[in-house]
Amino acid sequence: MDRGVAPEVRVYANPSAASAALARHLVRRAGESIRARGQFSLVLSGGKTPQALYRRLARYDRTRVPWRRTEVFFGDERCIGPRSAESNYRAASDSLLSRIPVPRRHVHRLEGELRPPTRAAERYAELLGAIPAPEDGPPRFDLVLLGIGGDGHTASLFPNSPALRARTRSVVAVARSPDAPFLPRLTLTYPALASSREVCFLVAGAEKADVLGKILRSLPNGTPRYPASLVRSRGSVVWFLDRAAASKVPTSFTTTPPSRQAPRLHRADRRRGPATRPAE
Ligand code: 6PG
Repeated sequence: MDRGVAPEVRVYANPSAASAALARHLVRRAGESIRARGQFSLVLSGGKTPQALYRRLARYDRTRVPWRRTEVFFGDERCIGPRSAESNYRAASDSLLSRIPVPRRHVHRLEGELRPPTRAAERYAELLGAIPAPEDGPPRFDLVLLGIGGDGHTASLFPNSPALRARTRSVVAVARSPDAPFLPRLTLTYPALASSREVCFLVAGAEKADVLGKILRSLPNGTPRYPASLVRSRGSVVWFLDRAAASKVPTSFTTTPPSRQAPRLHRADRRRGPATRPAE
């Protein structure tokens, strides 16, 4: 695995402020992508942490993100149906996708209900198409959102899993997740995640502090013991953290202290007068 660039670590007062900052960052990146290429290719993360971000995007950024020109993908999925309460697609659909004007044909879910799961992985890889090497073409995704589990996993790339060794496949099936829910999974692989203009991790809560400190201390090389440490991007890897999760981040990492001035208005809000979104 090539040595990544140093990650950027941004620390905010609480989960809501971290989600708000990542929402603004995503709006900026979407605008840049549309201006440059006419479309925005976004990979959504699963789990609970991004739910606040998704609700915020649906509520405050419904008109700020060019959703009609956005393609939505998923970083991983549990091998269950799309209506299951444990489906990442279901969670994203309820909190975001059903509330924004993204065309249904632009939402590409991993088919967790398909058996065997390897068939779903093959179908998604086919949908994604070839993942070009850096020297062969532009990255597949503009922005990849990820979280981390308490064991340092990300997407469904779990510690010491064979999935970590996938070098040519973009999507693989994971026989059984060691983390709840203990289901077989589908996940993008490192080569797929690396085919991105940027990766943004959103991590909140004291329960993630220990493993986050270990992940960042293992950089720049990273280790399969903490799979999130091996995620790379063509561009930057940015960590959006709340203070609780960041409590064991080595001081050597660049941290952007939360604004101590008067709450910032989102630039777009300034044009509109009073904030239409709560300040951080
Ligand atoms: C999943 C996610 C997984 C998640 C982490 C953190 O399917 O569960 O893709 O990688 O991001 O487990 O989950 P929480 O945000 O719920 O802590």
